[in-house]
Amino acid sequence: MGEALVRYIISQTDHHVINVDKLAYAVTLDPLTETMDHLRHHFQKVDICHAQAIEELLAHYQPDAIMHLAAETHVDCSIDDSADFIQNNIVGAFSLLKSTRKNWLGLSIESRQRFRFNHISTDEVYGGLGETEVRYAIDVGNIARELGWVPEVTFESGIKNTTLWYLENHPWCQAVQSGNYQRQRLSIESK
Ligand SMILES: NC(=O)c1ccc[n+]([C@@H]2O[C@H](COP(=O)([O-])OP(=O)(O)OC[C@H]3O[C@@H](n4cnc5c(N)ncnc54)[C@H](O)[C@@H]3O)[C@@H](O)[C@H]2O)c1
Repeated sequence: MGEALVRYIISQTDHHVINVDKLAYAVTLDPLTETMDHLRHHFQKVDICHAQAIEELLAHYQPDAIMHLAAETHVDCSIDDSADFIQNNIVGAFSLLKSTRKNWLGLSIESRQRFRFNHISTDEVYGGLGETEVRYAIDVGNIARELGWVPEVTFESGIKNTTLWYLENHPWCQAVQSGNYQRQRLSIESK
């Protein structure tokens, strides 16, 4: 997603982008081939956990916003080994926030008020929803008030349509209930 965002900012706005990525295993810069040498694109191969390197970048470029999309994805793999996920998703976000705050404290009052830190992620990275959040997750009041987004399908009609789909697709339900599927993790099994 970060690559798409970088391409969008470079092609659709006049902003500069300091693109920080540690280039984790299997990550390539191919999607950025056309953007890589753009004058407003500044790529830095840096780990967000490396506070000193991040602080040097902040001091040098003085960005007016941070959009944090770095993540260890495919979280189902964390069941076998969670160390990388804790390091990149939890320690990484904390370290980036800490470095950003340190830099933010040195800004003028006007720049501080303008500065934004945006963490783009999903429950895949934040962790599962608790009971309270589940209650709020079906309350679209906030998103309608703050972003003006109103779902095309209400929660009630969505549940009704989903239930009807199951009732009308017995063969599919029977196949799932037959016992052939043993809740194995398909992404791992298919490797
Ligand atoms: N892809 C989607 O459809 C989608 C949808 C909604 C939300 N999201 C969320 O957006 C975020 C990014 O997802 P994505 O699909 O772009 O993942 P991705 O795996 O394609 O990209 C993540 C990037 O983070 C980098 N990275 C990981 N740890 C790092 C670290 N410590 N320092 C610097 N860079 C690091 C990796 O090298 C990689 O380039 C995730 O939090 C994900 O949950 C993704």
